[in-house]
Amino acid sequence: MKRRGLWIGLAGLIVAGLAVASAIVYEPSIAPIATPSPDSFDVTLKQEGARIVALGDCVVCHTAKDGKPFAGGLPLHTPFGTIYATNITPDSQTGIGTWSEAAFKRAVRYGIARDGHHLYPAFPYVHFTRMSDHEISAAYAYLMSREPVNVATQRNQLIFPLNFRQFVAFWNVLFLRPGPRNADSTHDVQWNQGKLIVDGLGHCASCHSPLNAIGGEKSGQAFDGGIVDGWEAPALNALGSAAKPWTKAQLVTYLRTGRASEHGAAAGPMLPVTRDLATVPEQDVEAIATYILSLQKAAPPSVAQASQRETTAAEQRGAVLFNASCAQCHGPGSPMQVIGERPTLAFSTAVNASTPRNAVQMMLNGINWHGEDATNYMPAFIDVYDDRQIADLAAYLRGAYSNKPAWRDVESMAAQLRKEDRAQ
Ligand code: HEC
Ligand code: HEC
Ligand code: HEC
Repeated sequence: MKRRGLWIGLAGLIVAGLAVASAIVYEPSIAPIATPSPDSFDVTLKQEGARIVALGDCVVCHTAKDGKPFAGGLPLHTPFGTIYATNITPDSQTGIGTWSEAAFKRAVRYGIARDGHHLYPAFPYVHFTRMSDHEISAAYAYLMSREPVNVATQRNQLIFPLNFRQFVAFWNVLFLRPGPRNADSTHDVQWNQGKLIVDGLGHCASCHSPLNAIGGEKSGQAFDGGIVDGWEAPALNALGSAAKPWTKAQLVTYLRTGRASEHGAAAGPMLPVTRDLATVPEQDVEAIATYILSLQKAAPPSVAQASQRETTAAEQRGAVLFNASCAQCHGPGSPMQVIGERPTLAFSTAVNASTPRNAVQMMLNGINWHGEDATNYMPAFIDVYDDRQIADLAAYLRGAYSNKPAWRDVESMAAQLRKEDRAQ
């Protein structure tokens, strides 16, 4: 199903793209400049830039595993192939050292590189386009005063016809609405500030919304939840109907620390986002929380559950494994819950979600050891349990900690995610 939509989408893209591509070839190139000295930028502007760059997660994508910050090389896997984030340090050969501020502004606002080629929308310029001129200047000042790193970016591996960048021109007609927006006078300053960050720099919707066959965010479904790197990014407009509805304080804590005492912890693609949000002023995160909480849809009427239910054989097997490997942390009265004030799994989004995806990812990968903080460590079970055992554990978690219907096909999902995780 999903694949068929993809191919119909691609066929449409080819036809329409050819028409547009023949008309638009390249945007003009912007002349290279001599790399400006870091001292040529105002100190306060550079400091403001640190905040902008953190809100935009620039370092998350533009840094390879074990690579130098901003030197690029991180592979982004899309249904159309692999795109490598580029080097955005001020190196004159391999980075953006010869980019004027005008060239930089055109890239973040219109997705066009200095030499005029279109950038792929894996770079979230459809969101960054909302940045104000001042924010763009600040980000530029900050990036141009980083350490230059000489590393060439790997070539992208994309399928035909998307390996032709001109097709992005057509994509932009559909999905790019360039430029900042005016504030909404029916809401207060904090709400507007939150909306500006969430829709712009924070590009929250790029992960938390479903994508269509050509990789654009489905219209009218912003924040309905999406899939990114094998994880589910939960709906942000249903936080009010969680097992324990999110409060503003919990949301601020989660966004700034990666965990919330009544919900659980970020361990997947959200974790680096929270690390960046930990460095920005708290008012920014409060504004984000205010705006996100204003997006809540009414909860669907809850379906009455049969109160007496036989436990299945899978749940019984899962219960044994849970006692062997999980109860010391997740069981009632465990040090993690008593001393660490960690929540019961009953409030976990992963355990209550409609698919077992994040619960399985959590079991396979755990949460890495981050130095001193022993209450935020979970071992990875990828080498401990096979797919059926993971499915049994999932069946137990779902039965014991949630009153939602049992998940289906967990074993095949475990097999698929295990394969993807091993490939990373
Ligand atoms: C979700 C991942 C992601 C994030 C977040 C991101 N980028 Fe990028 N960026 C990319 C990718 C991928 C490319 C390369 C696109 C291509 O090759 O077509 C890119 C390209 C660029 C380019 C063009 C560089 C060149 O040499 O062509 C600039 C400038 C840039 N990004 C700046 C930023 C800034 C500033 C931020 C933060 C505000 C940021 N990026 C955040 C993924 C990201
Ligand atoms: C050493 C302690 C430890 C062990 C053992 C452990 N976990 Fe965890 N687990 C954690 C921590 C810490 C978190 C992050 C959530 C938090 O901080 O409350 C977590 C989170 C989870 C979550 C997601 C909850 C959420 O939404 O954040 C699931 C599901 C989970 N664990 C299942 C398991 C299962 C199943 C096992 C056994 C196979 C297991 N865990 C073993 C410590 C542990
Ligand atoms: C790179 C993709 C990505 C971006 C960008 C992103 N998120 Fe997330 N988010 C996720 C994923 C995936 C999860 C699931 C938890 C995990 O990763 O461990 C998540 C979890 C969350 C949760 C917990 C939801 C729940 O029901 O448990 C909240 C709240 C959240 N994100 C808010 C935001 C906000 C606000 C922004 C923008 C500032 C944002 N996210 C940007 C991918 C992303």
